[in-house]
Amino acid sequence: MNASVTFDALAANASDHDAERRKMVLLTAGSAGVAVVGLAVPLVSSFAPSERAKAAGAAVEADISDIALGAVKTIEWRGKPVWVMRRTPEMLASLAAQDSLLVDPASNVKSQQPAYTQNAHRSIKPEYFVAVGICTHLGCSPNAVAAGSANPSVGADWKGGFFCPCHGSTFDLAGRVFKNKPAPTNLEVPPHKYLAEGRLLIGEDNAA
Ligand code: FES
Repeated sequence: MNASVTFDALAANASDHDAERRKMVLLTAGSAGVAVVGLAVPLVSSFAPSERAKAAGAAVEADISDIALGAVKTIEWRGKPVWVMRRTPEMLASLAAQDSLLVDPASNVKSQQPAYTQNAHRSIKPEYFVAVGICTHLGCSPNAVAAGSANPSVGADWKGGFFCPCHGSTFDLAGRVFKNKPAPTNLEVPPHKYLAEGRLLIGEDNAA
C-alpha cells in the first residue's frame, strides 16, 4: 500500500470542514501506520511493537523508499500523524530566502526538534523532512499548500508550505512558522533515525 501522495494532491484534496479534515488526516495516518507495520513483520516480527506499546510511544518503522519527489507520506506515531516529505531541489532552495519572515528561522526553540535537526533544513537528510503534522497553536491539522497555489489564504509570493485552517497559521517547507500568526513555534520534528536507505525509524534516535 502506497500511502504517499503528491504535494499538490494533498493540497487539492483538503476538505473545507476543519473537524472533518482532522479526522481524515488521522484516519490516513492510521492506515499508513498499519501498512508500515505490516510490511515490517516478515523482517522484524519478534521486535514489532504491540498495539498497546505503539500507543504508549514505541518507535515505528517506515518504508520511505516509495515517496516521489515533492510527495508526502503520513505515518502514525503515538496516535499522531507524522509527515515524511521528500523535498525537491527547488523546495530546498526556497528555505533560505524566507528567514526574515519567520519567528524562529534557526530553530532555536529546542523543544521543537532534536539537536541533530537544528539546521537550515530541519532534517537529517536535506531531501526528507519529518514532522508531526499538528499545529503548535491549538492542535489542528495544517494543509499542504503548493507554491503557486491560487489559495487565497496565502500570499502571492507563497513558496509552498503548510496552512492551518483553524486560525490561519502558516509554516514553510521546513515547518517553520511565519511571523504574526497565532502558532507560537515551529512544527515539532520527532526523534528519528535511518535504519538503512529508505528505512526510517520514528520515535527513536541515537541521541544520548
Ligand atoms: S490551531 Fe492552527 S492556527 Fe490555531
